[in-house]
Amino acid sequence: MSVEAEVEMAWRLVLGSSHLYKRGFESGVGVGESAAFEPKLIIFLGMGGSGIVGDIVSDMMYPIHRHPTYVCKDYTLPVPVDDKTLVIVLSYSGNTAETLTGAAEAYTSGGRLFAITSGGLLDDLAGRHGIPTVKVAKGMEPRFAVPEMVGALIGVLHGLGIAGKLERLFLTAVESLTEYLRGFEKTAEGEPQRISKTLLGRVAVAVGHTHLRSVSYRLKSQLNENAKHPSYVTQLPEAFHNEMESWRPSQHTSYIIFRSSYEPPAISAALNWIVGELESSGQSYSVIRTQSKTYVDEMLKLITLSDLISISLAAAKGVHPLKLSLIPSFRRLLSLDGRLQDLAVRRFGG
Ligand code: PA5
Repeated sequence: MSVEAEVEMAWRLVLGSSHLYKRGFESGVGVGESAAFEPKLIIFLGMGGSGIVGDIVSDMMYPIHRHPTYVCKDYTLPVPVDDKTLVIVLSYSGNTAETLTGAAEAYTSGGRLFAITSGGLLDDLAGRHGIPTVKVAKGMEPRFAVPEMVGALIGVLHGLGIAGKLERLFLTAVESLTEYLRGFEKTAEGEPQRISKTLLGRVAVAVGHTHLRSVSYRLKSQLNENAKHPSYVTQLPEAFHNEMESWRPSQHTSYIIFRSSYEPPAISAALNWIVGELESSGQSYSVIRTQSKTYVDEMLKLITLSDLISISLAAAKGVHPLKLSLIPSFRRLLSLDGRLQDLAVRRFGG
């Protein structure tokens, strides 16, 4: 497929996000309801395009959560697990070594597992060991299945009876996203194209904070994977305790600053300082903000905008947004050529 055709397809996939969020939610609810229990602790387990689903939902839950929640992007679990621990295993392909290894540890420790996947070994193991599973549509690049997986995860939490206000916040935000997406129907010159141009020839630095941490990380990762672009993320307030000491004007970077209608006053002050410095030193930067009714509404819109910026940049650079050339080899390396998946299957008991 040509770059142009891939760009067009990727753009269309993003414009279909609200439908995917809803479809995922509807499938998730039933799965959650079928196995309801009250956990003491929650772990979201996943890597890359699936792991970010845990980050996004964890940021959505943060202001209203009732349970300590961890996002794990590693082979080992961050805390001890028992039968009061809800472990949601997120892997679009179902074959990611780190995720399967963590899932095997959770399973052998007695954790209550749920899976969200399109198939692969995870689906197989879940079928054989009675793990409630939400099946998402097959045949997508994992990072483009994020809306469906986010919907599925919130659906499971709602079905389990532990989503609280998040269910309403989410469904209302999805409605409002449908309207927002209409503004991007024409792919000519809009905000995504304008911002992507500022990144050409420069390293992108996404500045995130509070509930927009996951969103800034999403932008960084989408720029890496879709646009094959060097991109990093910096999080506030932490950056003011290290990174800012090295803050020097540079023509080689372009900052993308996420502003929110829900910024705590100290974060606003820090962001104002950053914008002031960038402006006065003539550095390249963009500020991203959107009109929203709630912080969840804001997150969904900014995730969409981030995705579109990455696709616009892929188009401007002439690279394939849907193809990956290095990640598949790294996946082999990180699984020790499949030996870690075999080990995980054995730990589950075959
Ligand atoms: O977007 C991608 O293709 C990657 O970031 C994958 O999501 C990552 O390699 C993990 O794979 P999976 O989502 O299948 O578990």
